[in-house]
Amino acid sequence: MLEKQRKIKRAKKNEIDIFRNIPKLSNVLVPDSIQEFSDYTYLGHNKYSRQFAITVYPDQTWIGWLDDISRLGDINISIKVETLPNSSVINQLTKKLVQHQSQYQTYQKQGNIAHLPELEQMISDLEELRMLIQTNRDRLFFVTIFIRVNAKTKEELDAKTLLIEDEFAKKTAMVRCLTFRQMESWKNVLPLGEKPIQNFERNMTTGGIATLIPVSSPNLSHDTGIFIGRNIFTNAPVYINTFIGPPALPNPHVFVCGTSGSGKSVALKLMSARNMISNGSKIFFLDVEGEYAKLCKQLGGRVIKIRQRRNNRNKSF
Ligand SMILES: Nc1ncnc2c1ncn2[C@@H]1O[C@H](COP(=O)(O)OP(=O)(O)OP(=O)(O)O)[C@@H](O)[C@H]1O
Ligand SMILES: [Mg+2]
Repeated sequence: MLEKQRKIKRAKKNEIDIFRNIPKLSNVLVPDSIQEFSDYTYLGHNKYSRQFAITVYPDQTWIGWLDDISRLGDINISIKVETLPNSSVINQLTKKLVQHQSQYQTYQKQGNIAHLPELEQMISDLEELRMLIQTNRDRLFFVTIFIRVNAKTKEELDAKTLLIEDEFAKKTAMVRCLTFRQMESWKNVLPLGEKPIQNFERNMTTGGIATLIPVSSPNLSHDTGIFIGRNIFTNAPVYINTFIGPPALPNPHVFVCGTSGSGKSVALKLMSARNMISNGSKIFFLDVEGEYAKLCKQLGGRVIKIRQRRNNRNKSF
């Protein structure tokens, strides 16, 4: 028996590894050469890059607030999100809450009213967050954001650095250049799922993370197609051509979502009518509620009622 196992081991040792030298994702992403300096990296072929981490976050965030940064051009933003266990979050929130409440009472007894409104706000924010997490309506995460600025010359890199710092200052936030950690942070920006450099993480709720999603790209429009509206951030007209094909769109499907009464039906009716008028597209609605019957008639179409066990061919209403 032992002899048999040894034989198998020996056979395994002599086996040629057919998967050796198959490039990994990191091989594809890493450049031919990287030279590390204290506050920037040189990747050869006139490619300079500088890595930053966000150290102070804005007090108030809004959907797409990071887009102002990516709009400066040739910038990579890497957002690392780590989950935090709910039980530990609730414990810590409760401790903080008790601290603030006792502080509040002390100030009240001392007649020190200057800090009371601020503490009151903090207590109500903490209570609300704790309630949302307890009822499973929200979660707390650790977020680390790295920014890589790319440029063709060192001068351009310095000019872009000033622009970025300025843009964050406008948002009452701050970025820090990762001096002497450029190489480490360069790898952190790559989508390799590596653990981020520590001490730059910031706690954030689900809503906070949602604001980081890049939604307001000014390029969110096709060159052809029908006018669908205006970009709410840039006010630029947005055109959509569902039949534009790959690589812009792999298929012509459209998914419209929104809260009740937000205008989904209006958007669909508008798209159908404009597509029909401008491209001569043929439109069919499977309309359970008869919501599109009026539009169909206005566009010169036919409403066909389908009923069980009835021959409805060529029957119009
Ligand atoms: N772009 C718009 N400009 C002005 N009014 C609009 C616009 N879009 C929608 N509305 C108005 O908002 C109301 C609700 O729109 P609509 O019926 O399309 O919402 P919905 O999202 O389809 O709602 P539901 O989920 O209930 O079907 C309508 O009265 C419509 O006239
Ligand atoms: Mg509707």
